[in-house]
Amino acid sequence: MSICNFYSKSLGAYSADLCSTLITFYRDESKFIQQVVIAVQDKINRTILSVSPYLIGTHTRAEDINTWLQDESSDVSMAAICGMGGIGKTTIAKVVYNLKFSSFEGGSFLANIREISGQPRGLIRLQKKLLSDILRGRKEKVYSIDEGIVKIKAALYCKRVLVVLDDVDKMEQLDAILGVRDWFSKGSKIIITTRHERLLRTHETCRIYRVEKLDDAESLELFSWHAFGQDRPPDDYEVDSRRMVHYCDGLPLAIKVLSSSLSGKSLDVWKSHLEKLKAVPNSEVLEKLKISYENLQDEHDKNLFLHIACFFVGKDKDWTVQVLNECDFYATIGIHNLIDRCMLSIDFRNKLRMHQLIQDMGREIVLQESPYEPGKRSRIWNHEESFDVLAEKTVSTSILLVCAFLFLLEGILFN
Ligand SMILES: Nc1ncnc2c1ncn2[C@@H]1O[C@H](COP(=O)(O)OP(=O)(O)OP(=O)(O)O)[C@@H](O)[C@H]1O
Ligand SMILES: [Mg+2]
Repeated sequence: MSICNFYSKSLGAYSADLCSTLITFYRDESKFIQQVVIAVQDKINRTILSVSPYLIGTHTRAEDINTWLQDESSDVSMAAICGMGGIGKTTIAKVVYNLKFSSFEGGSFLANIREISGQPRGLIRLQKKLLSDILRGRKEKVYSIDEGIVKIKAALYCKRVLVVLDDVDKMEQLDAILGVRDWFSKGSKIIITTRHERLLRTHETCRIYRVEKLDDAESLELFSWHAFGQDRPPDDYEVDSRRMVHYCDGLPLAIKVLSSSLSGKSLDVWKSHLEKLKAVPNSEVLEKLKISYENLQDEHDKNLFLHIACFFVGKDKDWTVQVLNECDFYATIGIHNLIDRCMLSIDFRNKLRMHQLIQDMGREIVLQESPYEPGKRSRIWNHEESFDVLAEKTVSTSILLVCAFLFLLEGILFN
């Protein structure tokens, strides 16, 4: 049976007509079948990326990116999804990739670039994955980053592709994987997820999408799905669930970690966990957030971050800059850097704002300098501890305590 007869039997006259037209175009039935097989294989080979079964608010958060992806006339071919650790950048990138990749001729999602590029031959492995995705599974040998760049350029020639580079934190990662952006054909789109907003601002025209934290209702829903397998907490757990959600302050990572760890536990355990969180922040969440601190440019920025986390959250930005510059901090540029890394923000009243868990992370770093002897820590922000170390004269550093005095003074003046 010829392929046209097969189509006319199974799909009706219209498909058979279309088929014969296409065969005339291809002149040869076997060539036509080959093309069909390649096209079908291509669709099958595109694996859907796995995402959490309980996604909350991703569609509204991905709306603008989806509109940009659909816009073939847009000159801007690069977008960055930015935000603090655990806010959902990778999740949103996966959602839009799954939704849109079939409308491109090729696609690649390169996950965990920060982590992989730090491993031996990591950047080359990433280049090979990109090549293999664009060349539909064909494996290419790559011996050096430069060779990889040349091969990627050839593979991208005349192809409309969607490429996602997940968790980029250095320009050199972008340069090695993407080379010069001009290689990309018109209509191609590149999405980057990063905690470092300025990384791309200095680079070239790029859309920035900031991921907003979950609101209270969204947070409670996500929490309930993970803790109870339903969209609302049972009545007897409602109050404590809300307290947990309040602690997470809209951060999906924290909501997921805490709700999963409490699932199936009795109310006593919940209450004790809540009490413990007041003194000891959750280590799994903190470790993820600490990456941002460790990636800060230099010791100046690290010290500035710790100072702000310990003493200046909620304070006027200009006043803070003035005080810290007196202590030889380069506060203006430092604050700018922290904002770029999504670790700090300034509200409409010019006050410094920090996500509660980022602040906890900073204070925990200081606490761990000497868990049991406050006098040996670089900073003391707690009134009682400040009084104790001053009374006992157990403090080892004097300069940093200036800030503790300020804090103390403020406490005395205003309380
Ligand atoms: N809107 C959401 N609904 C449900 N779960 C979410 C949502 N956003 C994020 N999550 C979950 O929270 C966790 C952290 O999300 P994700 O890895 O996307 O954060 P990220 O911003 O990429 O963090 P990082 O900066 O560490 O790469 C994941 O387990 C993810 O499944
Ligand atoms: Mg991520």
